[in-house]
Amino acid sequence: MYRSLIIITFTLILLACGGKPANKYATAADGEEIYKNRCVVCHGIDGKLGLNGSKDLTVSKVTEAERIVQITKGKNTMTPFEGILTPEEIKAVAAYSMTLTAQ
Ligand code: HEC
Repeated sequence: MYRSLIIITFTLILLACGGKPANKYATAADGEEIYKNRCVVCHGIDGKLGLNGSKDLTVSKVTEAERIVQITKGKNTMTPFEGILTPEEIKAVAAYSMTLTAQ
């Protein structure tokens, strides 16, 4: 009885995690998720919204390395994401933001 309860509990935990460890972002695809959650309020889904004095990311010339610094430390009204996102998540979202640039 108890044993089957334990097995059911573990199965539910595994299903809830989807086999993926929580809070571990590494790829640009994860960067897209982070962007949608954290950045669209000001930059918009396509990077062009420009709310709160934010800049159009599709024409930005800021390099990926500079973006990592800016996302970490913030700038003027842009939120510093240090302590909100992990360094890995910041790298992933910076990499994703590079893909918004108009080709
Ligand atoms: C509260 C609004 C806000 C949020 C949320 C926000 N930004 Fe910004 N962002 C700004 C503002 C304002 C600037 C312009 C800062 C300046 O240069 O004065 C900016 C500038 C930038 C720039 C540099 C653009 C350029 O050409 O100078 C990048 C890259 C950027 N943001 C990426 C992001 C990413 C990625 C996220 C999500 C992790 C994010 N931002 C979240 C407001 C925001």
